[in-house]
Amino acid sequence: MKNNYEKEIQDLLMEMTIEEKVGQLQQCGPSLVGAFDVSFEELVNMVFDGRISKADFQNIMSSAKHDFHEEDLRAGKIGSYNGLNDAKTANELQKIAVTETRLGIPLLFGYDVIHGYRTVTPIPLAESCAWEPELWERTARIAAEEATAGGVHMTFAPMVDVSRDARWGRVSEGAGEDVLLSSIYGAAKVKGFQGDDLTKEDAMAACVKHFAAYGAAEAGKDYNRVDMSMQRLFEEYLPPFEACVKAGARAIMPAFNDINGIPCSVNHWLLTNLLRNQWGFDGMTISDANAIAECVTHGIAENTADAAKQAIEAGLDMDMTSNAFSETLVKLIAESAVSVEALDKAVANVLRVKFDLGLFDHPYQTSEEREKAAMLKPAYRSLAREAAEKSIVLLKNETLLPLKPGIKLGIAGEQANNRGEMTGAWAIKADGEDCVSLIDACMTQGIDYVYLEENTVIPEDCDVFVAAVGEMKNQSGEAASRASIELPADQINLLKKLIETGKPVIALLFNGRPLAIPWVAEHVSAIIEAWHPGVEAGNAILNVLFGKVNPSAKLTTTFPYASGQCPIYYAHMNTGRPGGKSKFTSKYLDTPLVPVYPFGHGLSYTTFAYSELQLSEGQEGVTASVKVRNTGDREGTEIVQCYIRDIVAKRIRPVKQLVDFSKIPLQAGEEREVVFYVPYHKMGYYDMNMRHVIEEGEFELFVGGNSVDCLSNKFLYKPAIS
Ligand code: NOJ
Repeated sequence: MKNNYEKEIQDLLMEMTIEEKVGQLQQCGPSLVGAFDVSFEELVNMVFDGRISKADFQNIMSSAKHDFHEEDLRAGKIGSYNGLNDAKTANELQKIAVTETRLGIPLLFGYDVIHGYRTVTPIPLAESCAWEPELWERTARIAAEEATAGGVHMTFAPMVDVSRDARWGRVSEGAGEDVLLSSIYGAAKVKGFQGDDLTKEDAMAACVKHFAAYGAAEAGKDYNRVDMSMQRLFEEYLPPFEACVKAGARAIMPAFNDINGIPCSVNHWLLTNLLRNQWGFDGMTISDANAIAECVTHGIAENTADAAKQAIEAGLDMDMTSNAFSETLVKLIAESAVSVEALDKAVANVLRVKFDLGLFDHPYQTSEEREKAAMLKPAYRSLAREAAEKSIVLLKNETLLPLKPGIKLGIAGEQANNRGEMTGAWAIKADGEDCVSLIDACMTQGIDYVYLEENTVIPEDCDVFVAAVGEMKNQSGEAASRASIELPADQINLLKKLIETGKPVIALLFNGRPLAIPWVAEHVSAIIEAWHPGVEAGNAILNVLFGKVNPSAKLTTTFPYASGQCPIYYAHMNTGRPGGKSKFTSKYLDTPLVPVYPFGHGLSYTTFAYSELQLSEGQEGVTASVKVRNTGDREGTEIVQCYIRDIVAKRIRPVKQLVDFSKIPLQAGEEREVVFYVPYHKMGYYDMNMRHVIEEGEFELFVGGNSVDCLSNKFLYKPAIS
């Protein structure tokens, strides 16, 4: 049960000056001072374009000091900090806020805790392939336990942007291409981060992002514009956000992009009409970094003051680090260009979240002792390993895997021997040295192996080669879009060299997005998609390679043939000319119609057979039952997927759409009946006026182990006459 703090909020508002109110809306990013005389952005650019090395950058950063703008804090001009990650500093700043400001309003500390804090778990895209909401919630819980011990009150996660264009680097940060999976994933993360009682010291508010449709950035280019039909917005991009709001998320971050020409940070329809009035959201909104000021560059505001006015009037509560509110709002209010009501609303939303978090009663939610004891506990490591094992997708296996004990491995590729790379994008509190690389795991587990350095002669006594290929972690995540997602020539050459030995070759993929790997799919004996698996990478991979763990993960994103096939996703609308053999159909001349690996694909060391799909239509929904049998000789877990298609409707509908799934363990030879109940409302869509409707008529229901190989039956939906 959530407490009601409206009276306390109103009392505070009565006491606050305009300056103090504006202060509550200011999130400050500490500035870096000393040791260098260029801006931080310029410094990053210098590493990016090779003017200084990464090592130089690290040295500069470690000698730089942070300026926390304590004078502003004392004057009540700062309500929140972004980017702090230690208990000592958090408590020192909190002490200033609570004991030295006029009203003693506590600070809120925000941080990007995306897939673990110190205990890094697999990147979200990887973890989504486990199709396991309980797991998603558990990993979010341990992230909150660690992060709150480090002083964090709010994480800028989950990212629930449905992403269908593999060129977009941020594909790694979400749950893939599917609407239902992204919704369930987001809700599980919110529950895990926030726990059962937000006032507890280990509960962390979830800030859901990026609202909305950021995943549809044109051509997969980060920060690019989004051109979005209302139908698509309501059916494909908004549902995960609504699911997170229903799960109780306390904050929402509008996206950098525009929707229908209005950047989300200043989009009144999005932030007020939809989010507050329609969905009843009563938490706070916080801009993306610098996004309010960037509205000037965007060409929607004349100057920073105009941007601030538009943002606060649209329903944006807190300014993440652009200083637009702090520099202009007081004057705008004095000139009556912005109303005090608009300001009060925003402040109330921020204060409400601070009350919800229990910060007024317990402003110091951590201590250095708690912080020290909280990180990387053995139980966290074992959960990180479980998550990695459940995220690793076996894409191909020509009966080579699992490997027999005692064989000698030839391991190649930088990622096999690079701990820091295992964290993947957005693991800013991580220490790469915490990670177990594949080579580390081979050493500690006594595996017979040789690590092939570049240009070494390939030894003849290896039984099997494992080639680590894919992407480095900085090739996915924010500002990491790629025009080409094919494997680079040197990696293909490495694979060729290994294949020429005549020994079996396993491609071990490390990547933060789907890659276009048709050549690899054709030529190697097995492919293991490890993604960026986190601190327990090496152990989890070895467990899969040698069969201690039977892989069960299934892709939540389609693997295209070529970059030019992007965006590609299973739930596409039909056209009047679906791709086919004849010339005048929807296809590319130079790629097959189908992707290399479809959504939902993933192999096991056993096999599963589906039979006897039966449907029965009820008053409120349709029930589907199917028999699933483990036809191999070892236990395994199958992710059974249920899709529907509305065959004829007044608006075109996807050729298939996931409506349910079930993850079931099966002993060798065991058969189980799996039952799905699909309420009719899940089969609806949005009409021209964005009203949700369910149309009478024929539907097709599919059940299978991926989005392509399914059994199917048709049924008729006829609404009951009341
Ligand atoms: C920009 C990113 O778009 C957002 O996801 C992140 O939370 C903020 N920066 C803060 O680091």
